[in-house]
Amino acid sequence: MTSHFPPVTTVVLLCLLLHSTDGTCPSICLCTSDTLSCGSQGLTRLPLLLHHTTATLDLSYNRLGWIGPGSFSSLPRLDTLRLANNQLSTIGHGVFHNASSLRHLDLSSNRLQVMEQHCLQGLWRLEELLLYNNRIAHVEGGMLSGLSSLRKVYFSLNQITEFPFFSIQDHSHPFLTMLDLSSNRLTTLPWEDVKALPGSVQKGLYLHNNSLVCECSMYSVFWHWEQRGFDSVREFTEENTCLIYGEPRSSVQILQHSRYFQNCTVGKVVSLPVAVLISNLIVYEGERVQLDCQTSLRGKELSYMWVSPNQEHLTWTSFNDTLMNVFPNGTLEIPAARVNDTGVYVCMTRDNKHMLNATREVNVTVVSAMPYSFSTGYTTLLGCVVSLVVILMYLYLTPCRCGCCKQPQAIPIPAYNPGTLASIFSPTLSNKHVVFIEPMLEDQNGGLRVALATERSTLQWEWDTSGLT
Ligand SMILES: *[C@@H]1O[C@H](CO)[C@@H](O)[C@H](O)[C@H]1NC(C)=O
Ligand SMILES: *[C@@H]1O[C@H](CO)[C@@H](O)[C@H](O)[C@H]1NC(C)=O
Ligand SMILES: *[C@@H]1O[C@H](CO)[C@@H](O)[C@H](O)[C@H]1NC(C)=O
Ligand SMILES: *[C@@H]1O[C@H](CO)[C@@H](O)[C@H](O)[C@H]1NC(C)=O
Ligand SMILES: *[C@@H]1O[C@H](CO)[C@@H](O)[C@H](O)[C@H]1NC(C)=O
Ligand SMILES: *[C@@H]1O[C@H](CO)[C@@H](O)[C@H](O)[C@H]1NC(C)=O
Ligand SMILES: *[C@@H]1O[C@H](CO)[C@@H](O)[C@H](O)[C@H]1NC(C)=O
Ligand SMILES: *[C@@H]1O[C@H](CO)[C@@H](O)[C@H](O)[C@H]1NC(C)=O
Repeated sequence: MTSHFPPVTTVVLLCLLLHSTDGTCPSICLCTSDTLSCGSQGLTRLPLLLHHTTATLDLSYNRLGWIGPGSFSSLPRLDTLRLANNQLSTIGHGVFHNASSLRHLDLSSNRLQVMEQHCLQGLWRLEELLLYNNRIAHVEGGMLSGLSSLRKVYFSLNQITEFPFFSIQDHSHPFLTMLDLSSNRLTTLPWEDVKALPGSVQKGLYLHNNSLVCECSMYSVFWHWEQRGFDSVREFTEENTCLIYGEPRSSVQILQHSRYFQNCTVGKVVSLPVAVLISNLIVYEGERVQLDCQTSLRGKELSYMWVSPNQEHLTWTSFNDTLMNVFPNGTLEIPAARVNDTGVYVCMTRDNKHMLNATREVNVTVVSAMPYSFSTGYTTLLGCVVSLVVILMYLYLTPCRCGCCKQPQAIPIPAYNPGTLASIFSPTLSNKHVVFIEPMLEDQNGGLRVALATERSTLQWEWDTSGLT
């Protein structure tokens, strides 16, 4: 009977059979373990039959115009969702219902116009949100609320005129270090709200290529950012412009034309509580550590006080302590760091003349000279060295049984040349790397993160911060 079927039908039947045994990979997608790639397929609707173990779903470069509520609720392990370069004009209510494992969401290059109040509700694990190159004009106040794991949000190349800075507070988004609002249509910002943002958010707030109106409140914010050496102003000095009286043709570079702002009092702003600047330092045990206390205060008569993790108060000491010293310029020195010196050190500067205060925090982590996780690697390496030396000794130093004794000069001194050793060792060294990489690749998430890091290396600060956690 089967021989009567036309060949096409047979193929279709075969496909169906294969499909039902596999049962999980939509025919137009490429499936590998937990990754589903359905990019560039001209899709107008989500594919059906997505396997519930999917961790990465790539739907970019399609023609999706709408996604229904709960579309991803059958994917409890979905970690990365790429929807870039589609035709989405809105994210309706409940689209991400039950998709709370999402950590990376790419909605860039779509046609989104409004980011509504609760459109991303429930994504409390979301770390990275890409919304650049859409048509977003309005970001509603509660849009970011509840997204408490956010680290990086990219809103550039949209048409945003107002942004709800007030919704980002000290404890609402503790990990947020990048808020890119560049290339939008911002004119006047609520600068008081901007100044009230947590220091780590201010540090990663990008505002270049907007249409900011020149005003003193704006200038003082940029001035303080420059004083603290934030990359957002240092790297975009020329692009950080403002318009005099909002006139499009009267653009000036904010920090290059300080004469225009000569009548602005930036000092007055300093007297408001200055946001804390935190930095992280990792040192090895026994190293000398110097923590400087540079804050926004620039006066000559500053007094400094450090509070150690044990709540000890340290001020300038003329004596020479072997554990910790504070120098007249405010620098704290730990001559030889110990593991139990780990913790957050807070420096408080005070300008007595102008009654100004500023604070700086440094998170110091002292690690033992040889971390445990590396010990197996070193042991392996050591084992190889020992066996190599034994082999070399066996080859060249064993009592002769042949005529080689006649050439005592042939004992190959060059074999002990470090250069030669290095080339002999290189396979061993690369093995050492494999030892470290393999467990990571076996682990689903680890492997995924490696993939993300290579793919997105063009975005700033990608791997170094998120990779540490
Ligand atoms: C969401 O998940 C919960 C529990 O896992 C389940 O009871 C509920 O039906 C799901 N909702 C949807 C819309 O799938
Ligand atoms: C500045 O923003 C406009 C749109 O607002 C965009 O077309 C342009 O490419 C941006 N320029 C740069 C240098 O980013
Ligand atoms: C600053 O103030 C001085 C004197 O009050 C005035 O002459 C000058 O035009 C002002 N500069 C600007 C840029 O407004
Ligand atoms: C501190 O003491 C050490 C030895 O006790 C000495 O070498 C060093 O020069 C002293 N430093 C200062 C600044 O007095
Ligand atoms: C402060 O002084 C100490 C000792 O004189 C010096 O080592 C350190 O580099 C100085 N720090 C700064 C920020 O100038
Ligand atoms: C820190 O460790 C050192 C020895 O490494 C010890 O002498 C010292 O008492 C410890 N300090 C604290 C506060 O535990
Ligand atoms: C500045 O510090 C002093 C003493 O450390 C404190 O009494 C004062 O309230 C602080 N002022 C501000 C504005 O934080
Ligand atoms: C300090 O840094 C360590 C490791 O870099 C981190 O685990 C810890 O949470 C940090 N502490 C604070 C208060 O930021």
